[in-house]
This record gives sequence, C-alpha cells and structure tokens, in this order.
Amino acid sequence: MIILGLNAFHADSSAALVRDGTLIAAAEEERFRRIKHWAGFPSQAIAYCLSEAGIKLSDVDQIAFNQDSRANLLRKVAYSVTNRPNINLVLRRLRNRRSRAGIPTLLAQTFPGESLRAAIHPVEHHFAHLSSAFHVCPFDQAAVVSVDGFGDFSSAAWGVAAGIDISTYGRVYFPHSLGIFYQAITQYLGFPHYGDEYKVMGFAPYGRPAFLDSIRKMVRLVPDGGFELGLEFFRHHREDIAYQWMNGSPEFGDLFSPALEHLLGPRRGPRDELEERHNDIARSAQAMYEEAFFHLLKDLQRRSGLTDLALAGGCAMNSVANGKVRRNTPFRRVYVQSAAGDAGGAIGSAFAVWHKLGGKRNFVMDHAYWGPAYDAAEISKILRARGYDIANARCTVEDISDEAVLCRRIAEAISKGQVIGWFHGRMEWGPRALGNRSILCDPRRPDMKAMLNDKIKRRESFRPFAPSVMEEAVAEWFEEDDSVPFMMQVFQVRQGKRELIPAVTHVDGSGRLQTVRRSTNPRYHKLIESFRDLTGVPMVLNTSFNENEPVVCRPEEALDCFLRTKMDKLVLGNVIIARRGSVVVDFNPGKAA
Ligand SMILES: [Fe+2]
Repeated sequence: MIILGLNAFHADSSAALVRDGTLIAAAEEERFRRIKHWAGFPSQAIAYCLSEAGIKLSDVDQIAFNQDSRANLLRKVAYSVTNRPNINLVLRRLRNRRSRAGIPTLLAQTFPGESLRAAIHPVEHHFAHLSSAFHVCPFDQAAVVSVDGFGDFSSAAWGVAAGIDISTYGRVYFPHSLGIFYQAITQYLGFPHYGDEYKVMGFAPYGRPAFLDSIRKMVRLVPDGGFELGLEFFRHHREDIAYQWMNGSPEFGDLFSPALEHLLGPRRGPRDELEERHNDIARSAQAMYEEAFFHLLKDLQRRSGLTDLALAGGCAMNSVANGKVRRNTPFRRVYVQSAAGDAGGAIGSAFAVWHKLGGKRNFVMDHAYWGPAYDAAEISKILRARGYDIANARCTVEDISDEAVLCRRIAEAISKGQVIGWFHGRMEWGPRALGNRSILCDPRRPDMKAMLNDKIKRRESFRPFAPSVMEEAVAEWFEEDDSVPFMMQVFQVRQGKRELIPAVTHVDGSGRLQTVRRSTNPRYHKLIESFRDLTGVPMVLNTSFNENEPVVCRPEEALDCFLRTKMDKLVLGNVIIARRGSVVVDFNPGKAA
C-alpha cells in the first residue's frame, strides 16, 4: 500500500511517501521553492516523493492530511457561542477549510493528465504529531506528548502509546497555548519572523530568570498536567490577527496585548540593542516554558509509569528543555524525530492512516536522510556548466574516489581553520543540517565563530554553533549519554572539556549535539573519525549549508553559496572544489587526548 502524507496550507508544508509501512521519501517544500518555512500546497515535495519512489500519482492508494476541520467541532461551536470572536477570524477559518477541500484540484493542476484514485484521509493535527513521534520511534510503548501553537483548535495532547495504538489522557484547547506564549515573547523581544523562537532560546542563557514571577502571570499551571494562558496579555483569542499562511513565507501580526508592555516594560524593536533586560526576559520565558513542560511530563509519567518518551509539535524543537528531561523527570529515554514541527505531520498522518487500515509497525526512523540525492554524473554536469564561474573564482577541482583519502584531506583542512561546504547523499528531513548539507569547521578554535560569521553566516553573535560528535565519544565529552541523531537535545559539556571546544560550547557550558553513528552516515562518521585521529577531538562544528535562505537542496545551490561566500572548500560528492590562496590562520590548540 502506498500512502502519500501531506502537511499543507500551513507553515513548513511538506510531503512524505510511505510504502507498506516503510518511509521512502520525505521533504519540505521550502527546499524546492527556496523560501523559508514556505506555507501552501507542497506540489514540488509531492513530485519529488513520487519520483523517489518511481511511481505516478495514480499509483498512490491513500492520501493522508494532517488536519481535520471536523475535529473538536463541538468545542469550536461552544467557544464561538460563548466568546463571540471577531467575525473576520471566523470567516478566515472558513476560507482555510475551503482550500483544504481543494486537494484533488491542486493535484490535478500539479500533475495534468494523471488520474487520482486515492482516498483522502484527514487526520487530526495533534494525532498526526503524536503518530509522527511514536510510530517511527524505537520504543514498543511510550508516553507521548505533542505541544505546539495550534492545530485543529488544540495546542497540546498527551497520553500513552503501545504497539500501534495511541490513547490521549489530556489536551489543551484554544485559546490556551504554550507555543503562542513563546511566539508572543519572541515578537515582544524584537524577532518578528515565523520560527524565530530558537533565537530567544539561544540568548536566554546570557540572562537571569529575574522576570519569572511576572511571566508566571502569563502561564498558569493546572492540576491535570495542563496549563492556561493569562489571556489579558494576548490578542489571538479576541482579534483578527493579520497573518499570511498561503503560498509564501508565513507572517504573523502581534500576538501580545499592551498589557504585556505594562508587565515587562516597552517592547524591543528589531534593530534595537539587545540589553541585559532582554536577556533576562528571554531566560525567564524559557524557564516558564520549562516549568509548564515539566509539569506536564511529571504528571504524565506519574500516571503512566512509563520511562520512555516520544515528543512532537513545534515546542518539541525546544532542545534545551528536551535535554533536561532525564534530569528533571523519571523518563530515561527520549525520542524526537528530525521534523518534530508541522512538517512532521506529513509522516505522522501517513503512518496514522497505515495503522488505521491495519498495517503493522515495521519501521524505525534512526536517520534523517529522506530527501533528494544527486549522483556523480549530475554533479559533473553542473561543474561543466559552471566551469567558467569556478575558474573565475580561482578554484581548483579534484575528483577523489577513495573515501578515506577524501575524509583525511578534509579533516586536515578543518584542523587548519578552513571552512568546508559538505554536500553528499540524501538531503536531511527536518530543519537541521545533519552532515549531508552542512558547513563544517574546527570546534577547538576560540575565533572560529567569528571567522564563520565573517566568511558566511553573518548571524547574531549570541547564537551558538553545534557539534557533530561520534556517538561512541558522547559520554566522555558530555554529562549525559544518549543517542541524539537529530540535534534535538542540548547537553552540558563536561567540565574540563569545555575549554577544548570553545566554538561549540555555549555561554552556560551547553552544546546542542548531533550524535553520528557509523551505520547511518558512514562517510560523515569517517570524516569526524579522521579529524579525531588528527586532533584527539571526536567532533566537528556543524552548521546548516545556507546563507539566509533555506538549507541547500541541489548541488547548484551549494555551488552558488560557495561562490558568493568566502568558504574555503566545497565537497560535492567525491569532488573537492578549493579556493586557491585560502588563508590559514595559525592556532595552537589545547591538549585534547
Ligand atoms: Fe502543529
């Protein structure tokens, strides 16, 4: 049975293809459209999934979609009757529902002349999130939690799952939402773009939780593990907030009310200095999020008695909170798949339908490499076509078929302070670059962050860079030991190791690590091993291969990014493109081995 899963008409629209209960392909539309968080109908991601599987639209048996407008209908009606929300808000919701009904038409426009015989199955938004975590995790049974902004009138759902069954214990409904709380604080702190919450999480460690008492007025914990918002600080429940959700980059109007400025002082403008007060508010908001998150997890653990946990929803991208689960609760193992946010609804809805129709569990997602790959012939065609640009940039091109030699050469370049574009194999599923579309450099250099920002990234100085670590070395370098293949947990770097890897150690001694396993990415593992053999440090600094754009998908985009930045080398499959005369800055590392 072939199931096409969709997250559509929503941010991070995406498609996934599941054949007989095994994931074949998954990708976000933004990578093809080249617009971050692209919202709308994922026509190019669908076309990619079909071509990866070698099938046509008419071969698809079922289409799964991670929204069900009939879900929680009674609650919606009751809310509208009691609260009389702005009429424009109601009309906008109805328009959205009509666009969802248009999936067959949009498919017909995307694939003219092809027939569609698949049935379309709406799957309630949070059930799709829970399925996206549990049905692909390695646990036979687990506690399951989904927390986000909103989907199908609810913002959180939690319960237990065993085999193929997921049962929910509790939910939080509109207008209460931890995702809305975090997004409102993010806007207040001067970061207006959809998905900017990770920036607040990034600078929170610079502050103290001095505003926590005030911020507790915004989120109240309730006895069953749930939470409520102090609604006077928010606008989303009573006003028609401007937002753009279709065919482009998602945008939101302010979610917070003037009462928030009375509570915390004037908002920060996007260009204003980041002051100590802003750091303290960020730290306090992160602390509030963690209070509510662990309140929910502890209640769920007490009721379920389980020690394994599967997390999903946009809030499951809060890798700082995820990394504290073992310390703060009796849960011992945590699984968060690589597209934990709404993109993941494509696989969640597909697996939910597979199991609803009687399919067995026979798949574990232990890596993120479900996107397109480009073979040597395609890469050499691009290099030939762009030969003039490459020569004009004074670059050399070398084909190295021996993987060990290639890895050693690149490890040496990294150890000499060079910045490497590293492109091979299938593109990652989810927002993180995990060693197939990555920019790599030396984690030991105190000046590496500044060099990287100067050469490519030009991003805010407070944001940390992350390490990719050989899985077998995690316990030696970090205070926790777990498999974190999708960079979804932040651990403390061990005292005594921090000064050895300053470029990937955050101000509070933490690191958002990716653990790299030989069996799931042998080439990347070999590269890090080569770097370890040279330096005694079993990790490299890994940041996404992009420059203020979605992560690169095709080799052309990698080459363009290389040519317009000051990257030193680009590896495209077996080919190394090297800028002549790259400056090597001397560096005397601390002793690591
Ligand atoms: Fe969601």
